[in-house]
Amino acid sequence: MNKTGFHEFGISSSELQTALRRILLVSSLLLLLAPSFVAAQSDLTGFWVLRVPTGDGNYRETFFDLKQSGEAVTGKVLQGARELAISGGTFKAGRLHLVATIHFQSVERQITYDGTIEGSKISMTVSFPGRDPVAGTAERTSPSAALPPPRLPLPALHDVPDNGLARTPPMGWNSWNKFAGKVDDAAVRGMADAMVSSGMKAVGYTYINIDDTWEGPHDAQGNITTNRKFPDMKALADYVHSKGLKIGIYSGPGPKTCAGYEGSYGHEEQDAKTYAAWGIDYLKYDWCSAGRIYKDEDMQAVYQKMGDALLATGRPIVFSLCQYGRGEVWKWGPKVGGNLWRTTGDISDNWRSLENIGFSQFNIAAYARPGHWNDPDMLEIGNGGMTADEYRTHMSLWALLAAPLLAGNDLRTMSEETKSILMNTEVIAIDQDAEAKPVQVISRDGNTVVLARLLQDHSTAVGLFNRGDQTAEVSVNWSALNLAGKKLSARDLWKHQPTETPGDRYSASVPAHGVVLLKVGP
Ligand code: GLA
Repeated sequence: MNKTGFHEFGISSSELQTALRRILLVSSLLLLLAPSFVAAQSDLTGFWVLRVPTGDGNYRETFFDLKQSGEAVTGKVLQGARELAISGGTFKAGRLHLVATIHFQSVERQITYDGTIEGSKISMTVSFPGRDPVAGTAERTSPSAALPPPRLPLPALHDVPDNGLARTPPMGWNSWNKFAGKVDDAAVRGMADAMVSSGMKAVGYTYINIDDTWEGPHDAQGNITTNRKFPDMKALADYVHSKGLKIGIYSGPGPKTCAGYEGSYGHEEQDAKTYAAWGIDYLKYDWCSAGRIYKDEDMQAVYQKMGDALLATGRPIVFSLCQYGRGEVWKWGPKVGGNLWRTTGDISDNWRSLENIGFSQFNIAAYARPGHWNDPDMLEIGNGGMTADEYRTHMSLWALLAAPLLAGNDLRTMSEETKSILMNTEVIAIDQDAEAKPVQVISRDGNTVVLARLLQDHSTAVGLFNRGDQTAEVSVNWSALNLAGKKLSARDLWKHQPTETPGDRYSASVPAHGVVLLKVGP
């Protein structure tokens, strides 16, 4: 027997080497082809979780419940409570292509998911019209991973004592409308600087509010952490305070916030204590994923939990309820310690959105009072999607409604026109009027609307609005304001000058989507 011992089987050494080389070649070819071979054969049926990194240390999770039959893939995309049916899904030659339709801002849009198989994972790209595609990795998971945690019991209802804050509608800035997920420590510091240097602080703007996406996970001790964009929240709060301003933060009663970040569910008291320790002065508390655990009827108890927790910290913290005006929140908002409550869905930077929200708030105006305000959402002034006339309408309506004035633009780069709208002290004075009398609809006629509000100094703020697309003449009879027969003086609050009041009615030519705002007194 020779050294190799193979001769016994009639195989020469060179034959053996050739055979070995062939085996090696075939097996390496097989290895190369393996993923697509496996993929082509594999069945994607089952539950998957896609994790898309948000760039700050967090991941946004989307679940897929897939059913594969040959090359066809059907099933559902699950994102929070949202379920989207998959249409036209295919899996061909190792490539997955899924399409799901979503109703976004009353328009149907298609999200597409394109994946390639990598071992047991799928490398995926998500495309949404008008946004940059994002990439992540999907892996198999169990259906239970897509479910919310079990329901925790809720406290019995009681009235949370008034915290004594927000005697006039809060004024400040919030990050969401302009920055959304891109807000970070530097932007917040920049906004605090600009609030002072622009003169906004001097006319009453006070709160610098960080909206969603600052959050990290709760740590092993259950303490909420910040993500990479906010390395030191206490230091940031100190900085904002050093400017003579106050700082706000955002969370929600569910396990996840609206942007999919960590919420306060089951950590309410601990989170409130952390906010207080950081020096936070304002909390916006957003329903979102709480809706997967609780019903609308539970909202009062859910919000009361955080209202109590904030009060228990001993630090004055404005409590801002954000549940989009559901469950007639204006009736119970004050009872949970709420200083303001959203009355509508999200505003966006266009006339339709502004018009729909701004002119639909009059029936609930009487629920606003010192310490407790209706919140028709934050300002879009200066964000570029509307004309100056439309932004003046925005500011005028919010002032007449005694709405919070939370600027939502980049304060570092404001045009003079934007400044003149946000810092019109005569309009701000109406918003902040100490009497907080409800606005009244004096008349509506086609596209024109006349609103009025009695002020503490016994004068009346009068808004002549034109919702139409053409300039229109808008009039008001002084008798409708109980001002007939009196010697009147009137001031145009956008022109900053007195205006003549001849006769028994006032008429003005009002530009498309614009306003003439007056202060009238005997
Ligand atoms: C909801 C709120 C918005 C904003 C986002 C953040 O949509 O209504 O104002 O806070 O969540 O995710």
